[in-house]
Amino acid sequence: MITLSLKKIALITNGKLYGKDLFIDKIIIDTQKIVPGCLFVALIGKRFDAHIFIQDAIKKGCSSIITQKNIVCYVSYVLVDNTSIALGKIAAWIRKKTNAKVLAITGSCGKTSVKEMTASILKQNGNTISTIDNLNNNIGVPMTLLQLTHQNKYAVIELGANKPGEISYTSNITQPDVILINNIHYAHLQGFKSLLGVSKAKSEIFSGLKSNGTVIINLDSNHLSQWKKNIRKKNILYFSIKKKKYSDFFSSNIKINLNSTSFTMHTPCGKINISLPFLGHQNVSNALAASALSFSLKIPLKKIKTGLFNTPIISKRLESIILANPCKILIDDTYNANVSSMISAIKVLEKMPGYKILVTGDMAELGEKSILYHQMIGNTANLSKINKIFSIGKISHEITKIFNNGKHFFDKKTLNRYLKKIFLEKNKITILVKGSRDAKMEEVVEYLIEESKKNVDFV
Ligand SMILES: Nc1ncnc2c1ncn2[C@@H]1O[C@H](COP(=O)(O)OP(=O)(O)O)[C@@H](O)[C@H]1O
Ligand SMILES: [Mg+2]
Repeated sequence: MITLSLKKIALITNGKLYGKDLFIDKIIIDTQKIVPGCLFVALIGKRFDAHIFIQDAIKKGCSSIITQKNIVCYVSYVLVDNTSIALGKIAAWIRKKTNAKVLAITGSCGKTSVKEMTASILKQNGNTISTIDNLNNNIGVPMTLLQLTHQNKYAVIELGANKPGEISYTSNITQPDVILINNIHYAHLQGFKSLLGVSKAKSEIFSGLKSNGTVIINLDSNHLSQWKKNIRKKNILYFSIKKKKYSDFFSSNIKINLNSTSFTMHTPCGKINISLPFLGHQNVSNALAASALSFSLKIPLKKIKTGLFNTPIISKRLESIILANPCKILIDDTYNANVSSMISAIKVLEKMPGYKILVTGDMAELGEKSILYHQMIGNTANLSKINKIFSIGKISHEITKIFNNGKHFFDKKTLNRYLKKIFLEKNKITILVKGSRDAKMEEVVEYLIEESKKNVDFV
């Protein structure tokens, strides 16, 4: 973080400083992470109000506080109207002070994947910071931007939302030079009501884009026409999985292997062979997005290729785990589930070797048409080469009811035992496990990995 005085922080946040002025180079919002000399911001969240932890933060060595309640303490503090807004204002100020090129990524799915790929590419060319894990909301975005220093050349920021207004807020703090709406799909429909609602919310990202900024457009996405007025005077790079009329980036020759995907990438500077440590067409699309984002900042193709190849494994997103080479494969896609990512998962599974089982929890937050969407997955699976579906949860039985060879479970213990039995029986098998975050389907993955370790017969 760029060092700031408390006086300056009070000025930026429209707050009032009590106590002596100090210099701050670390801002913390979690008392468990307090380091001596830091500034502690007491946020008010859905579950708790961190003002009750102020004394604890002082005991642990913080030098100062940002508070929205009057407090009595011996360290300096800045009194503001709203601590969360104050955090955003400091982040926006710091972002403006740096020369780093800032890229912002939103969309229904693949944000984290594209973010990781883009950061891996940009790191080849200079000091890069990026959103840690999935911290993409009104607190996570400013916390990421606070890390910026004058040494950073690039920042890759993920912007997420459950309801309208959130991305407009984080985009204005981020003030990106380049933006991407990765796609518009059926996700978080409870907050957005319809696909059009999703599209409108994601297009809020335009509000923070710099006037000379660049927009990366996915020609395969739903609701593109929505953004026409937003992109009129911007630099634009288009991408699509297959060649389309305007595509600057597209792919050909896609080959999905056991735990990687290769393809030829066509770019405005010629074509190049790419090898990705991820599965599926959706990751080819994500790689094209990451390449277009990087290309807009003049990163050469060779570095794009190396960066994509070296992207760290993104845990629980179609993570391929070979339990016994090459015939028993587990695919961990338990991070989340919505209609589009479920269809992508089915497409990946049907290309895998041996007996193919999809194990699915519920797809959450799909609003009033939730049952219909689950049934849709059952129909899609019927047209695929999947052999079996196991479901568990409150609505996922709608998938197995429709699917030709489905079975619903009421508890994970029984499901796990059943899965283990089939895993032992079959010589060649691929199991893909998926579900929304609340479904905690990683418990099934963990069980299968543990069993494979202790049971020699298993592998
Ligand atoms: N471009 C894409 N289209 C459809 N599904 C995708 C895409 N990229 C990733 N996914 C799937 O979406 C889920 C979440 O991926 P992630 O990269 O964490 O996205 P996000 O950050 O937008 O939630 C995973 O199941 C992943 O396989
Ligand atoms: Mg994410």
